[in-house]
Amino acid sequence: MIGTGYVGLVSGACFADAAHCQVVCVDSNVGKIEALERGEMPIYEPELGELVQRNVAAGRLRFSTDLPNSVQQAQVVFIAVGTPSRRGDGHADLSYVFRAAEAIGRSLRSPGFTLVVNKSTVPVGTARRVRELVARNAAPGARFEVVSNPEFLRQGTAVRDFMHPERVVIGVPSDREPAAVAQFAPGDGDHAHRALDPDQGSHFDAKECARMLMAKLYGPIARAKQVPILFTNVEEAELIKYAANAFLAMKLEFANEIADLCEVAGADISAVTHAIGLDGRIGADYLQAGPGFGGSCLPKDTRALARIAQEFWRPCRLVETVIEGNEARKRRIAQRIALAAVAERADMNQVYGRCIGILGLTFKAHTDDIRDSPAIFIVRELVELGARVRAYDPRVSHREVRQALGDEIELVQSVHEAAAGADVLAVLTEWPEFRETCAALGPQGLDKLMRQRVLFDARNLWRPVDWQGSGFTYHSIGRPTLYATADETVEKAALDTSPGAVHRFR
Ligand SMILES: NC(=O)c1ccc[n+]([C@@H]2O[C@H](COP(=O)([O-])OP(=O)(O)OC[C@H]3O[C@@H](n4cnc5c(N)ncnc54)[C@H](O)[C@@H]3O)[C@@H](O)[C@H]2O)c1
Repeated sequence: MIGTGYVGLVSGACFADAAHCQVVCVDSNVGKIEALERGEMPIYEPELGELVQRNVAAGRLRFSTDLPNSVQQAQVVFIAVGTPSRRGDGHADLSYVFRAAEAIGRSLRSPGFTLVVNKSTVPVGTARRVRELVARNAAPGARFEVVSNPEFLRQGTAVRDFMHPERVVIGVPSDREPAAVAQFAPGDGDHAHRALDPDQGSHFDAKECARMLMAKLYGPIARAKQVPILFTNVEEAELIKYAANAFLAMKLEFANEIADLCEVAGADISAVTHAIGLDGRIGADYLQAGPGFGGSCLPKDTRALARIAQEFWRPCRLVETVIEGNEARKRRIAQRIALAAVAERADMNQVYGRCIGILGLTFKAHTDDIRDSPAIFIVRELVELGARVRAYDPRVSHREVRQALGDEIELVQSVHEAAAGADVLAVLTEWPEFRETCAALGPQGLDKLMRQRVLFDARNLWRPVDWQGSGFTYHSIGRPTLYATADETVEKAALDTSPGAVHRFR
């Protein structure tokens, strides 16, 4: 497994566990491999630590920085390296994939057959390019094939998703495609047996071998739940991944647009999405309105699909609109939080010096990943508006946050500390801990900590009714704001002597 990130590490550990094969997870990041060898998880992913530990102990899983040696020993080599957005144009940056392909080519064992599987999310035509690069770098006579096997796991539930997929997609070069190795004369024998045994010489069928190896690997996972294994051509497999992610992003953006409408129309978005989600043609997943979608996949994959479509002269207008809508949404949520901090006085100068408590920096709960997190974008905007930000997230790496945001914000260790002295407390990630701690504190506990009684719930963790009569102003997404009673808030505002302290509550 080349690349030991969210996808590579989870896939490697799951294959070792389910298919009982020997897996070596390779990474060029020495620190990551050293941590894994010490038994430390370089990422936070529920169930992963235990799974890795079990398979290391069973002698099925190990870690290495030695790509050539690992590839030489392997029958199947997965490429699971990152494909981030290329700076400037939104295209997928394929440099990590291509570098891995070249290194694999240089390391192929010969004689023997190696199946190269591209698991990274890549634009149409990449598998073909990987095939060329492997061939160009391989020793004469090295036999290999390249297939595409997009991954659909979600961070936060990655192990469960991998072990219980809804489908497995395997893109194999079509039969029109010339073999990636020297052409062998057609033979007569038992193809099933011979396909798996390259030493059978002239009867060896690389594509058939690729299909069978993949079916064998996924067999234990797919068989248990009768999961369909879909064999497609490589172009289809590459497009399926982008189309699926773009569709999910579209659902989220749709829910966000309807949420905006609900706020002014006196409707509750959860009632609307619950009802439409029950329609089997629509489905309830990915209909949660929020601060905008983020993470290491949906933003970059929608951008990449838009670019691919433009290059093929078939622009995907819907996807382009979703990307624009999401960028505008994150900015708008930042503005709404800033306005909430100054009791909606429509003067952004008032935001200067206001203290904003932030709960959650990761792009969603149950992960430590802040890549393309809406929370990071929103905090950056708030800092630019002059706010003082104090943020708490239970899992995030402080080093990574510092890299993303610099020293402009204060990172704290608890909900209590984030709330202390805050003009508004904003929930940006749906960690259950935030709901539980705030419930335990209750409105009185929060009131004692905060400077103003204002909450901004960008994840709809609570219902407005939970804050009714509490003296708090409660802003949420897709639901009319619940305002504090005038008496209680005026009393609080009287203590505040800073500029912009006269609050207007409806
Ligand atoms: N994260 C997800 O939820 C998810 C889900 C499905 C698909 N994907 C796709 O899977 C791919 C990997 O995503 P990820 O989130 O696991 O990335 P990641 O950044 O977490 O991990 C990639 C790893 O590859 C390593 N690497 C890069 N080049 C290497 C090389 N030449 N040799 C060895 N190691 C190398 C990096 O050091 C890094 O540890 C991407 O294309 C992504 O779009 C991700």
